[in-house]
Amino acid sequence: MLEEKKQASADQELDSFVEELQQQILEETRQVYGDTAYERWLNPVYNGTIDSPDGYGCVTGPCGDTMKIYLKFKDDCVKEASFMTDGCGSSNICGSFAAEMAIGKTPDELSDITQNAILEKLGGMPEEDEHCALLAADTIQDALNDYRVKQTSRQEKKEL
Ligand code: FES
Repeated sequence: MLEEKKQASADQELDSFVEELQQQILEETRQVYGDTAYERWLNPVYNGTIDSPDGYGCVTGPCGDTMKIYLKFKDDCVKEASFMTDGCGSSNICGSFAAEMAIGKTPDELSDITQNAILEKLGGMPEEDEHCALLAADTIQDALNDYRVKQTSRQEKKEL
């Protein structure tokens, strides 16, 4: 009986230690990344694929992480956007913001989604993670390029 009580108390201590540790990690992450990026890290919206995208970008950064961006256009404006990445938490945050920023943009406006524009939108990142925003920006530009190539070939087919 005594042994069982001891075990239960040890389990409880371990649980509260783990919970405290988790809270500490979350708080440290919030402090390092700031509120905006932290909230997005917890809830990386726009994550996923889009069937038959009008623009598809896939870029592997020098760190080895790959990002994919899917764009769906209507009337030459982005109607839907999403991202996928096998990268770090920061690349998930940046991909999510890049997809969000793409929605409603014309092709010309998509060119304005640069590394700096993403960093500004999410309120900055630690210097060592800034390259994750570059990966997201490069992937958006790759998807834009794909859209333009497809548009040009559609145009050429019409003219034949
Ligand atoms: Fe590779 Fe973040 S470390 S994209």
